[in-house]
Amino acid sequence: MRKITIAIDGYSSTGKSTVAKQLADYLGYVYVDSGAMYRAVTLFAMQNEIISKDNFDEEKLKNSLDSINLSFKKKEEWNKAHIFLNGEDVESQIRNLEVSEFVSPIATIHEVRVKLVAQQQKMGLEKGVVMDGRDIGTVVFPDAELKIFMNASAQERAQRRYKELLECDNSVQYSDVLKNIQERDYMDTTRADSPLLKAKDAIEIDNSEMNLEDQFHTVLQLAKDRIAGRLLY
Ligand code: DC
Repeated sequence: MRKITIAIDGYSSTGKSTVAKQLADYLGYVYVDSGAMYRAVTLFAMQNEIISKDNFDEEKLKNSLDSINLSFKKKEEWNKAHIFLNGEDVESQIRNLEVSEFVSPIATIHEVRVKLVAQQQKMGLEKGVVMDGRDIGTVVFPDAELKIFMNASAQERAQRRYKELLECDNSVQYSDVLKNIQERDYMDTTRADSPLLKAKDAIEIDNSEMNLEDQFHTVLQLAKDRIAGRLLY
């Protein structure tokens, strides 16, 4: 069966990575979490005194890019590939709140984007890839056979994230979570380089009212149609 490239973009906390991973597993494709790459560069910047609460040394970051080596590795016992920064497994470290706070400024740097986009394009050379992010259908794979743009209301996304966060911290406030989602939406959509944008040929899915199963079946059907060469949308 012919292999295609699937690009899944959208706002934060829309469940892109869940559906991308389900789809890749089902189709036997490689799943690439491009956000993890921006997060790993952010972790490097934090570890090397490039970014902190009161300092962001953009020049040092640009000059350090050649010493940042990112790779993904998979093991049977892991449910998804882990990201490695200069040989170290940083999959769990990159998910912490501090990294989430610094990742947006790091992702605005053109030179960072050029480096990561080149690596992402290499990973997709042989097709059979599902990649999720913000600029996959617009910049990384403008020729992807299937482009999905995921959306849900900010309130619904905040509610989902709030429930997740409550499991480890019962002091979390819904209003803070909503504010953070709205700030990230603003930063992702207004940055100069590769802002979050629905590609002209992307199919928008609003999952505010959808459960995970319905969402998966909707996306899977689109993928099957595209693999079969049906372009009915
Ligand atoms: O998908 P995520 O929330 O883990 O992504 C972390 C950040 O990285 C997000 O705030 C925006 C940035 N990002 C990006 O600019 N381009 C991508 N293709 C993926 C993520």
